[in-house]
Amino acid sequence: MKSLKIVNVVGARPNFMKIAPIIDEMKKHDDIMPYLLHTGQHYDRVMSELFFDQLGLPKPDIYLGIGSGGHGEQTGRIMIEFEKCMHDLQPDMVLVVGDVNSTIACGLVATKLGIKLVHVEAGLRSFDRTMPEEINRVLTDQISDYLFTTEASAQQNLEREGISAEKVHFVGNVMIDSLLKHREKAGQSQVLTELGLQPNSYLLVTLHRPANVDDKEILTQLLDVLARLSELTTVVFPVHPRTRNRVKEFALDQKLQDYPALKLVDPVGYLDFLHIMANSQAVVTDSGGIQEETSVLGVPCITARDNTERPVTVDVGTNIIVGRDPERIFSEAQKILAGNGKKGLLPPLWDGRAAERIVAVLREQAQAA
Ligand code: UD1
Ligand code: UDP
Repeated sequence: MKSLKIVNVVGARPNFMKIAPIIDEMKKHDDIMPYLLHTGQHYDRVMSELFFDQLGLPKPDIYLGIGSGGHGEQTGRIMIEFEKCMHDLQPDMVLVVGDVNSTIACGLVATKLGIKLVHVEAGLRSFDRTMPEEINRVLTDQISDYLFTTEASAQQNLEREGISAEKVHFVGNVMIDSLLKHREKAGQSQVLTELGLQPNSYLLVTLHRPANVDDKEILTQLLDVLARLSELTTVVFPVHPRTRNRVKEFALDQKLQDYPALKLVDPVGYLDFLHIMANSQAVVTDSGGIQEETSVLGVPCITARDNTERPVTVDVGTNIIVGRDPERIFSEAQKILAGNGKKGLLPPLWDGRAAERIVAVLREQAQAA
């Protein structure tokens, strides 16, 4: 069998835990030559390098160093630099994950150069086109040759959008492959002691969606409700750089100092984060990936958004969608603290073997070609 040259793309924090098991699996096969390309969309040590160490990811073969910018600027700059690399490397396939700007930018370049495009985590839909991620998802799926899905809703969405069923493969969830692989090691983390937290006696919070943090009034309301919750239990909040910038810009940091049990900390590494999450009473979040991870860990998740592109986490898992109404967030958290958190089951095929299935499909197709 001919050797298959595959460029695997990462750019932002949630990409690292998705690509790590895929690279691991590709390395097991002599007929695959995996390359790792990092666009540099995220670049702070705590948003990027730390994950390479913790996930055992190899140093990227190519680093584009793009950094931050408006959507057009960031996407455009990734495309320009990525195209140059593709001319040099001439891969058989480009594999992208998730829904960030790096995903669509590299996907568009690959497909226009006639390189087969693989999308992992295809078909998720929030049906909310004000979210930049929704645009990235819909467009990436339209131009992909191989689409790997994590849940049944994705199959239905792709079918409705006219994507041929032959291209779509239900394989499970690579983010959960990483979680299951690293869970035990994460258990050795000392982060609870470092942050002064006791197991099962705090809420974990993450917020970074533009709809939640870029508007002063909405962010103020969300921080106010966290402050109120910190009077019931400790609240630990690793703050995403977008949010950190907004908190400063809107001069909200001062008032948070009046709430000692509301602990704003820097983003934490993957193993530490898994440990904090696994031992929390509940998680309040607007993250995509964290809705999935909490379901597998059996930790109740309160999603501060009006929708989710991951309905299986609600139908089967521990997730509830509460919107951004502060009263609703408060009352749902109160219920969970009183011991009435949702108990979930594991979604189908979230068994730690998604990467294995993906690579098997790619090798089979290459053989047939
Ligand atoms: C991006 C993704 C989002 C994903 C999130 C994961 C897009 C459109 N959005 O959002 O889907 O959920 O990553 O975390 O791709 N910044 C730093 N240091 C960094 C990275 C960012 O300071 O290492 C700051 C910059 O001021 C930047 C801002 O954060 O302008 C936003 O970064 P960006 O990558 O544009 O979007 P995210 O909000 O991180
Ligand atoms: N995460 C982390 N440290 C943090 C916050 C999140 O390691 O301080 C991990 C989390 O466990 C999950 C991923 O980052 O694996 C989710 O990324 P994020 O919320 O930034 O993006 P989204 O999933 O919303 O696109």
